[in-house]
Amino acid sequence: MNLKNKKLIVGNWKMNGTQESARDLAADLAEKWFATPSCHQIVVCPPFPYLSITLNRLFGTEIACGAQDCSIYEKGAYTGEVSAFMLKDIGCDYVIVGHSERRQHHRETSELVCQKAEIACKSGLIPIICVGETLADREGQKTLEVLEEQLKTSIPVIDQGFAIAYEPVWAIGTGKTATTAAILEVHTFIRTWLQKNRKKAADALILYGGSVTDQNAQEIMSLAHVDGVLVGGASLKAETFWQIIQSA
Ligand code: 13P
Repeated sequence: MNLKNKKLIVGNWKMNGTQESARDLAADLAEKWFATPSCHQIVVCPPFPYLSITLNRLFGTEIACGAQDCSIYEKGAYTGEVSAFMLKDIGCDYVIVGHSERRQHHRETSELVCQKAEIACKSGLIPIICVGETLADREGQKTLEVLEEQLKTSIPVIDQGFAIAYEPVWAIGTGKTATTAAILEVHTFIRTWLQKNRKKAADALILYGGSVTDQNAQEIMSLAHVDGVLVGGASLKAETFWQIIQSA
């Protein structure tokens, strides 16, 4: 992934919208892209059923598409699962793995997340591997310890081709963004950890996520070791998402 001097700006639509709203949102983003193409790498991650319609509407732009999860299996009798190869096959370039909502509500472990990241890479997708502490971890002064454990077990030993998203659980969907000092501390910690433990992937992109808006994106993206943002709620409106992109 060569995004030198570019930011990676990812919209995670989560389980929101309808076929019609996905199509309209993608069409609005395409229109904005054609009017003022961005030099940054933009990615949107719609729910599985709306991937194709989104890809279709984004055709001709350089806005990429990603999924919000993938199976650890390549193919076969795994009812309900979606393989990374299928996602690549329909035109996706990215996949989010280990989002805290999956860790929390679907009991995904870091070992499973690591397997997902590995198969994503094998299929030619770029996994965006999420890590982040809970409020209890932060209040108990355990943030870096918890993150180190998540990094150790979730980040595969591969050369390159993945991004990490630091998303403090308590900042997701709450309107409580981490302070710039906290973001800087964690991103520097993750970069140093990569340099020590995943030398060949030492320059993997590190994104911040958690209540990113058009009001705070610029300040967050100007911090050292913040290579982009993973945006939830504010990516559901073309206008706000585009403002975030333009503030990069
Ligand atoms: P919000 O931007 O809505 O806080 O969500 C962040 C997130 O979980 C992105 O993956």
